[in-house]
Order: sequence, then structure tokens, then C-alpha cells
Amino acid sequence: MISIKSDREIELLKIAGEIVGKTHNYMKQFIKPGITTKELDDLAGEFIISQGATPSCKGYEGYPNNICVSVNDEVVHGIGNKRKLHEGDIVKLDICACYKGYHGDSAWTYPVGRISKNRENLLKWTEEALFEGLKTIKNGSRVGDIGYAVESFAKKHNLGVVKELVGHGVGSNLHEEPDVPNYGKKNTGIVLKSGMVIAVEPMLNLGTADVCMLDDDWTIVTMDGKPSAHFEHTILVTDDGYTILTKR
Ligand code: MF3
Ligand code: CO
Repeated sequence: MISIKSDREIELLKIAGEIVGKTHNYMKQFIKPGITTKELDDLAGEFIISQGATPSCKGYEGYPNNICVSVNDEVVHGIGNKRKLHEGDIVKLDICACYKGYHGDSAWTYPVGRISKNRENLLKWTEEALFEGLKTIKNGSRVGDIGYAVESFAKKHNLGVVKELVGHGVGSNLHEEPDVPNYGKKNTGIVLKSGMVIAVEPMLNLGTADVCMLDDDWTIVTMDGKPSAHFEHTILVTDDGYTILTKR
């Protein structure tokens, strides 16, 4: 069952989403060479709590940290540690916050100092792919429309589309139905209805689409070691489009 959110639930999802957006805004200033990924995790966790929310990732299926911090070839679910950021890296912050039992979820990829032209393109195109997917959304559109839009845009730019991880419904659980893959066929899959809340989150690679998991049982990396980008918003489906809940 895919839930249609009540007005009260939408109010709380909006607040949770706003807190996630504000946390991203706050974190930008710290993304510089020399900071460790664990320091980023701590700063994000403290900020989320200062906003009256809790970091949803903490304890989620045993996840140890406040947010996910993934560098370069790490696609998602990187666990902040002593690793320092270096000029030219790209870093993904995947931030989830829970406010009065409702979640917001948004990932963004940031450049560390000056980055290569290839990486710049990867970031620009993955963000654009997110909005290509979002553009298809309205009451009556289908999940396959999103995947088709993301995948065809990625292919046009020769990027690998990660298939093992997908977007998802969001509500009183961080991950709800439906799955929202970044590939698919137009006019197929679940029909979206006004009042549904979903996270759309393309993960695109400069090289192969193939990924694998590290020994920590969390971090997903690209098989060929090339960089990956991730952009995600939680959105509310409306009669004639969508509202971004995790806006900056
Ligand atoms: N935004 C991440 C996702 O949708 C949330 C990860 S929380 C974690 O997969 F605990 F699984 F890391
Ligand atoms: Co997500």
C-alpha cells in the first residue's frame, strides 16, 4: 500500500524536509580541504538536533553515524571517519532528519575546492538528471516515467546509471513504497497520486554502472574506481506537478 498523506502528515513532512534543506545550507561552509568526513558527520548531527529533529540514519538497520558521507568513487552510505577531504575531491552528503515521527531525505554532491572538468560535468549532469526525473511528476504520472527520464538523460551524457539502489516513498518511515528506480519505461509502474511523498535520487557514474559493497557492509563503491554523483530531493506529488520538500 502506498500511503496518501493527510494534511497533518504533509505539514510534518514539510518541516522535516526544511530541516534537511537547512542542514545542507549549513554544511556547505565546512566543505574544504583538510576537514575529515567524521567531522562533517558530527557537525550535521549537532545541527539537526539544534533544529528539534533527530538524524534518521543513526541506528537505521544498525547504521552507526548521523548522515552518510561518501567521497569520489563511494556512491552512497559512506561512514564518516578520519579521512580528510582533498582539493579536487567530490563529496556526497546524504542527510535524513526525523521531525515528530516524519522524515526528510536529501543527498547532494559538493566539489572540494577546484575540481576537474569531468567531475564538474558529472555533478552538473546528475543534478540535471534529478530535475529531468522530477519534471515528469504529477497526479496520474507513473514511476516508470521518472526512471525513463533519468536514464535517457544519463545515457545521452555517457554516464553509468546505478541500478542496485533506488528512490523510495517517504513518510513515518524513511523508506516506504514505492521503489523509484533511475531506469525504466514510460507509462509503466505505479501510478503517482496527489498526496504521495517520494524521494527521487539518481546516482550516476563517470564510468561503469557496476557497484559493489565494501567490507564495512555499508559503503557502496563503483567497480572501476571512477567517481559517482548523487542528487536527491524528497517531493510531494500535487495535482499539476510536485513540491520540493527539501529545498535549500
Ligand atoms: N538516504 C539514504 C537512503 O535513502 C539513507 C541512508 S540511511 C542509512 O538510502 F542508515 F541507511 F545509511
Ligand atoms: Co533516499
